[in-house]
Amino acid sequence: MDKAQSALETANTPAVLIDLEIVRRNIERFQAYADKHGLKVRPHIKTHKLPQLAEMQLSAGAIGITCQKVSEAEAMVAGSPDIRDVLITYNILGEEKRDALAALARKVALSVVADNETVLDGLSSTFASEPAPLTVLVECNTGADRCGVSSPQEAAALARRIADAPGLVFGGLMTYPPAGGALAVQTFMTHAKSLIEAAGIAVPVITSGGTPSMMAAAEAPVSTEYRPGTYIYNDRSLVSRGVCSWDDCALTVLATVVSVPSRNRAIIDAGSKTLTSDLLGLSGYGHVLGRDDITIDQLSEEHGRLVSDGAINLKVGDRLRIVPNHACVVTNMVDAVHIVEHGAISAVWPVAARGRII
Ligand SMILES: Cc1ncc(COP(=O)(O)O)c(C=O)c1O
Repeated sequence: MDKAQSALETANTPAVLIDLEIVRRNIERFQAYADKHGLKVRPHIKTHKLPQLAEMQLSAGAIGITCQKVSEAEAMVAGSPDIRDVLITYNILGEEKRDALAALARKVALSVVADNETVLDGLSSTFASEPAPLTVLVECNTGADRCGVSSPQEAAALARRIADAPGLVFGGLMTYPPAGGALAVQTFMTHAKSLIEAAGIAVPVITSGGTPSMMAAAEAPVSTEYRPGTYIYNDRSLVSRGVCSWDDCALTVLATVVSVPSRNRAIIDAGSKTLTSDLLGLSGYGHVLGRDDITIDQLSEEHGRLVSDGAINLKVGDRLRIVPNHACVVTNMVDAVHIVEHGAISAVWPVAARGRII
């Protein structure tokens, strides 16, 4: 066994492993689809929080990145000179955050979204005295019922307000639709775009996103850009929706069996602090690769309970690789990830934007 192979066997657990070949394949697959359909790609980096993987996405053809929080964007920009164009898909409130935003806007091409006047007025008050205006997109609700204005008329009203606001430039429309939402995106965005254009305002960007329906993104041809996030790693929730297979899952948690208290039960050293308690509608907390018979039925912070209908056939010290229910939240749990190439650990990368929730 060479040194690198043995690292995979002996890495201190629990550890988060990222298979770089699968990452590459996942990036290229969606980029090829987007290129074929004339869609620009702006990946959401909340899934990996790694400047190194953003660089891979950009060199594959992405036009920039999406971040959810200002501090997350700061960490990504600080981590790579290649990151020159950032969209923050969040309503940004508060002077401290706006000052950080203004500092960032002096370094890279920056755009943000807003779905209400309070946020817009705050952004305008900060950017009116900045050297360059801030690009703002209107967030639209196309069925996910999180943020977003709920009608094309409201989108047009906010677009007019942005166009008139000192320090701001209208950048277009943004939505984060539910899975299967392409038709709703097409309907909403086409209507909103025509209302805004009728007011004499151009709509340069219409950006949509989400991994579950990314291979149907072209069914909303009004979109100019798409923001997939989880596609780079995939996870158990996406396998369960039939979006990908276990072989497409780039992020796994390497865990060690620390106890086998009975014939059909074993305990691993990864609990909710690693796998997280996110269920995403599933039962169980992850999939043990190669062991379809095992359910991870209970987690405490540092213990994961594995049960099988029959004999569990594990011994203390065995190592298992687990595909978590939701990859993005696992990323945020660890200081560093182990990069796997050709089955061996080739590097350990700090998770640069971990914990950046401000
Ligand atoms: C605003 C926004 N855009 C894009 C994404 C990416 O979605 P997914 O991880 O399903 O690809 C997310 C995910 O949370 C999001 O909140």
